[in-house]
Amino acid sequence: MLKLELDIDLIMLLCSIVLASIIVLFLFIDIQYFVRSIFVLVWGRIFELRKKPDELTTIYGLCTTSDLDIIFKHMNNARYVRELDFARFHFYDRTGIYKAIIGKKGNILQSACIIRYRRTIPLFTMYKITTKIVYWDEKSVYLEQQFISLKDNFIKAVVFSKQGVVGVNASEIINDLLKKEDSYRPEKTEELEHFISCLDASSMRLRKKDE
Ligand SMILES: *[C@@H]1O[C@H](CO)[C@@H](O)[C@H](O)[C@H]1NC(C)=O
Repeated sequence: MLKLELDIDLIMLLCSIVLASIIVLFLFIDIQYFVRSIFVLVWGRIFELRKKPDELTTIYGLCTTSDLDIIFKHMNNARYVRELDFARFHFYDRTGIYKAIIGKKGNILQSACIIRYRRTIPLFTMYKITTKIVYWDEKSVYLEQQFISLKDNFIKAVVFSKQGVVGVNASEIINDLLKKEDSYRPEKTEELEHFISCLDASSMRLRKKDE
């Protein structure tokens, strides 16, 4: 009888420790962020083929209750940008760009993004996020990403982003993976030209201020 009581106490203690650890973990770490990142990478590695750097990559998502905005109807603005991270990790892994950069002791960092919200993503909407490289130079990679509703194929949001590549020559790495000649660059679209000049203007203005 006494032994049984002791055992129950021990079990209760262990359960409390596990529960407390889980609570602490959730308080200090955005667990879902890491779980989703790992999930898209592992899923890609098991079920998807490798892509060339200039091919489109796709991940899928669903607007859940934890994505909602203050009026509890649509995905909130910040969530879109969070989802883009997963799509980018997946893109860099599938295309082998990340491995090539890290292999040469370089690194890649998001340095700018512009997002145009075209239509809301209501609760329980299934969508896909496509990612495609649109331009690159020695120091940067430019991506276009789109949120597309699965039901009607409507492009809900479109995003351009710039990633700074440090420690290695980005152009060399991408052209190498594409088996293109060293000087190859894709054509810039008009939007991309404006995006790049907007970033340059912003950089110039802040630089003047810092001086
Ligand atoms: C980067 O690589 C390209 C070849 O893809 C070359 O033309 C260029 O000079 C290199 N730039 C630097 C800074 O090494």
